[in-house]
Amino acid sequence: MRNDNSRKGPFILATVSGKGGVGKSMATVNLADTLRTMGYTVAVIDADLGLSNCATLLNEQADATVAEWIRGQCSMEDLPLDSDGLTLITGASKPGLSDKDMEMLFEAMDQVIVALSEYYDFIFIDTPAGSGELSLWALDRAHLGMIMLVNEPTAISDVYRFCKYVLQIDPTYPFASIVNFADGEDEAGRIHERFNTILQYFMQQQVSYLGFIPASEQVRASIRDQVPLTRRQPRPEVIKEFDFIAHNILGKAPDLQTPGARQTVSHE
Ligand SMILES: Nc1ncnc2c1ncn2[C@@H]1O[C@H](COP(=O)(O)OP(=O)(O)OP(=O)(O)O)[C@@H](O)[C@H]1O
Ligand SMILES: [Mg+2]
Repeated sequence: MRNDNSRKGPFILATVSGKGGVGKSMATVNLADTLRTMGYTVAVIDADLGLSNCATLLNEQADATVAEWIRGQCSMEDLPLDSDGLTLITGASKPGLSDKDMEMLFEAMDQVIVALSEYYDFIFIDTPAGSGELSLWALDRAHLGMIMLVNEPTAISDVYRFCKYVLQIDPTYPFASIVNFADGEDEAGRIHERFNTILQYFMQQQVSYLGFIPASEQVRASIRDQVPLTRRQPRPEVIKEFDFIAHNILGKAPDLQTPGARQTVSHE
């Protein structure tokens, strides 16, 4: 039941990878915040259950989570955390969810998406590493799967296997790559092309290119200080790469060219 592009609701993106630690959460939070500064209404769902760290990257603490909501420990209205206008929903801040919890959690996460859909232009879903059911759930709900590519054989082969798995189920699934830890545009282009060559050869498929993020001290400092790049002064130079990616995302979300348009509609 993947979303199609004829929707009037938000544009939903799922950030996925094969290998862990490749920059999914960092990219999700900073891209979401970049679109927020452009005037769009943006929510992030942290679906890395139990190992969620989007709140940490924003120097916030999730006082209410979807896992707590399904156990009756908080209400749905308690879930959205406002971080300077960026909304964050955390799935679970502690690991150890039972199978029964998980079943209810998927339903609850769907309800969260429905509730957010009324107000938000963009919903980003940050996922755990790998092709587990949460990543597949997120891809199923998303209009675009953002894959994080890094120039390491294990990372490339992991994400290839993940994409292959999804493309075997849905050969038209729209994936787009972000190359992280790249030395520059040329290297990022080569990594993206190499990945596409493999996909083309074995799967007769291609993914589109959103942009790259360099291995950067500015990124490291923003993570260390728990301040997203857009909120740092002076404005870090590396933001231009996030702006580039954000513009490419906008190009894939044709209904949403006017910042705040949905907000105006929802207040009528
Ligand atoms: N472009 C970058 N420049 C410098 N450091 C980076 C960059 N991207 C990521 N990092 C480093 O990599 C670490 C992992 O990033 P992040 O937590 O976003 O990865 P992840 O894919 O979400 O990991 P997980 O799979 O565990 O959820 C960060 O804490 C940071 O130290
Ligand atoms: Mg993460």
